[in-house]
Amino acid sequence: MRIGVLGAGQLGRMLALAGYPLAKTFVFYDMSGSPSAGLGEVIIDREGKYLDDFLSRVDRVTYEFEHLPVEVAEKLAKEKPVHPCPRALQVCQNREAEKTLFGELGIPTPDWKIADSAESLKAAAEELGCPVVAKSITEGYDGKGQAVLKSPDEAEAGWESIGHPRVIVEKFVNFHREVSIIAVRAEDGDVAFYPMAENTHHEGILRYSIAPAPGLAKHVQEDAERYIKALLNELNYVGVLTLELFETSEGLVANEMAPRVHNSGHWSIEGAMTSQFENHIRAVSGHPLGNVDARGLSCMINIIGEHGDIDRILELPYAHVHLYNKGERPGRKLGHVNILADSYEELVWRVRNCAQFLPGSPEFKSSLTAKG
Ligand SMILES: Nc1ncnc2c1ncn2[C@@H]1O[C@H](COP(=O)(O)OP(=O)(O)O)[C@@H](O)[C@H]1O
Ligand SMILES: [Mg+2]
Repeated sequence: MRIGVLGAGQLGRMLALAGYPLAKTFVFYDMSGSPSAGLGEVIIDREGKYLDDFLSRVDRVTYEFEHLPVEVAEKLAKEKPVHPCPRALQVCQNREAEKTLFGELGIPTPDWKIADSAESLKAAAEELGCPVVAKSITEGYDGKGQAVLKSPDEAEAGWESIGHPRVIVEKFVNFHREVSIIAVRAEDGDVAFYPMAENTHHEGILRYSIAPAPGLAKHVQEDAERYIKALLNELNYVGVLTLELFETSEGLVANEMAPRVHNSGHWSIEGAMTSQFENHIRAVSGHPLGNVDARGLSCMINIIGEHGDIDRILELPYAHVHLYNKGERPGRKLGHVNILADSYEELVWRVRNCAQFLPGSPEFKSSLTAKG
């Protein structure tokens, strides 16, 4: 079976790496002009002239990034199975549509309002009560296109810095920690849930994911499963879906979803019986899902900006290095390291030991390292 992937970055690369053992072949469709997948066939098409060519070479279509025109996905879906469905893409591309759907499905969100001018941003900040986070409705990623307002007086500056005609204004959530749940749904409707991960961000970029999330109450995992299942079924979704959440003293609050494999699931490559990548390939190919149990305790460390001393990390007996074949640039995701351990204590020690060889890494902070 030939799988067509829209997008050609590291997520596509890892999908292919997981799909080859199942005898899948891959054709990547790149609109950026700088594909990095480095595997399979790559069609570079900045003007959208070779979509038919792409379609003629594949049996099924999926995506590894969500910022492509919905019309493209809809056009493809008329000819070949496209998983997840274009509607999932449409919802994930638009923070207003996303938060509206969450509300309809009973998934808790921060209080939010829409603003389309500096004045309405100020009014929204006043009504919600600061601090608030303003985010462009579309095109945001890695914390880009966002501004935190500590007071309504900052509306003008925030509006200018975002530079977008429409923003969602959210009440700032006082969370204990950020977590995510990754689930996969098969063509026959079967659903499997990975254990949730605890995620630490630095300067808007994910740095560390620990899975299973330490000390997570069973009912919290169950709440997250209920929320993501509601989304999967509503969207008649096929493939991997990710839901980012805040854990607060009042329970989980949903932040956003991604219609694809996710950085907070990279731990699953060695840390789960079946990785998120293999399960996505299984689902979009119409196969049964694989076991999602954790093999032990994992922490994923992102390699951001510079590679550091990879050879020293390769010497560590508990570290698995994944490089994306990309050039160094500040803030760029170049790879990740998966650390495995049998206890959280051992995991912390191993993560710190590894991170010292990654000069760009912030200090390892998580619920495991918090004092008290
Ligand atoms: N309402 C909020 N309250 C508190 N922190 C927030 C809120 N929204 C976003 N953040 C912080 O900003 C980060 C990036 O926001 P997110 O909505 O996930 O955008 P992106 O698409 O860039 O990942 C989140 O991981 C979280 O740390
Ligand atoms: Mg996010």
